[in-house]
Amino acid sequence: MSLLIKNGRIVTATDDYHGDVFIEGETVSAVGKDLPLSADTIIDATGLLVLPGGVDPHVHLDMPFMGTFSSDTHETGTRAALFGGTTTVIDFVLQHQGHSLKEALTEWQGRATGTAVGDYSFHMAVTDFNDSTRKEIREMIEQEGITSFKTFMAYKGALMIDDRQMTALMQEVRRQGGIVTVHATNGDIIDYLIAKHRAEGNLSPLYHYLSQPEVTEAEASGRFADMANYTGCPGYIVHLTCEGALNAVRNATRRNQKVFVETCIQYLLLDAGLYEKDFEGAKWVMSPPLRQKKDQETLWAGINQGLVNVVATDHCPFLWKQKQMGEKDFSKIPNGHPAIENRMELLFSEGVHKGRISLNKYVEVACTNPAKIFGMFPRKGTIAPGSDADILLFDPNKQHVLSAATHHMHVDYSAYEGWELTGKVCKVLLRGKLAIDKDECLVEKGYGQFIRRAKVSGTI
Ligand code: URP
Ligand code: ZN
Ligand code: ZN
Repeated sequence: MSLLIKNGRIVTATDDYHGDVFIEGETVSAVGKDLPLSADTIIDATGLLVLPGGVDPHVHLDMPFMGTFSSDTHETGTRAALFGGTTTVIDFVLQHQGHSLKEALTEWQGRATGTAVGDYSFHMAVTDFNDSTRKEIREMIEQEGITSFKTFMAYKGALMIDDRQMTALMQEVRRQGGIVTVHATNGDIIDYLIAKHRAEGNLSPLYHYLSQPEVTEAEASGRFADMANYTGCPGYIVHLTCEGALNAVRNATRRNQKVFVETCIQYLLLDAGLYEKDFEGAKWVMSPPLRQKKDQETLWAGINQGLVNVVATDHCPFLWKQKQMGEKDFSKIPNGHPAIENRMELLFSEGVHKGRISLNKYVEVACTNPAKIFGMFPRKGTIAPGSDADILLFDPNKQHVLSAATHHMHVDYSAYEGWELTGKVCKVLLRGKLAIDKDECLVEKGYGQFIRRAKVSGTI
């Protein structure tokens, strides 16, 4: 089967031109102006942007966490992602402490295989690094195509590892050709502050925010950069939120070190004022918490300075009744918020439409860099001969409103209820197949493929 997209404005991280895209089967086979080709299907993209499918490298689907499971399954989450123009996600497998990486992978495969609608890959979260885990790193990279290893410097008593384990893990991951990613906040300080606020009877969502001050993130980000520098291991900080943490990374560049930085759409757009709304603030209880307006400015500038490389979501949705588990105690509110469906449109509207970032930068941070950093480029993250035909037809002028009444995520509220956006996904192709058309999903549960990833060099 062949498909020709004609007369669109094709935008990649580096190019921007009017032309045609010719697709055979699952891949792009030619790109150019007025291609003299016929095809089984022709789509006229006049007036539309033709963009690479979005790559969201930070999502938590059907994940056991804080006494419950995140509410989107691999089916509902990847379908919602497709509606919003994200064709590939990277989900997190969590090692259970005292158990192997392989056991955790088998558990996650059981949930994702045959159910995902969009393409997906896995990061492996190492929560217990020891001699037997060390031996599994090579196996994960060589046999499973999982080349990124997530660590937590927080969630003390649950997911956190100490610096001894972190250093040893980094040495092994470097040896085997992978990358270590990190939730970089100081777990001990946070643990102390949570206990203090609870003991003083301060139990509302606001105290979640007050338990994780900026210094906890700045300190841990700098410490992670130091360990990455010492071991020579490629490093990536997930969901970086604030000026202090970005400055810690900026300092690392002064000794000629590269640390990749991801922020998430919510940290660019929302601020801690939302925690003043009594228990409704639980909708935005996530870790790290939302910060200040000055931090948003830092992050937008960081994108344009090339210090912030990726805009992800950290999609980790919970139904309102799950959030209510923490009605009497902020420390029991499951951490996370829903955004997998909203990222591409929010970033376009608030970023490109409002003139904060260029169209090329938009594609770079939402599609290309995540694919490059995590070993999926050029199969994913661009439009070029040989790439998977994961393509968005995007109307840059269409106005619409975000709402839980119309979104496809399995969650009964929207973190962006009533936001008026400019720019909307019209059609989505996933590996050559029309997956989303006119607000309808045309691919079935199970169409999504697991994407094996290549070794990474720590450069892009
Ligand atoms: O609040 C968050 N971020 N929930 C998901 C787990 C994590 O820390 O990424
Ligand atoms: Zn995290
Ligand atoms: Zn996360």
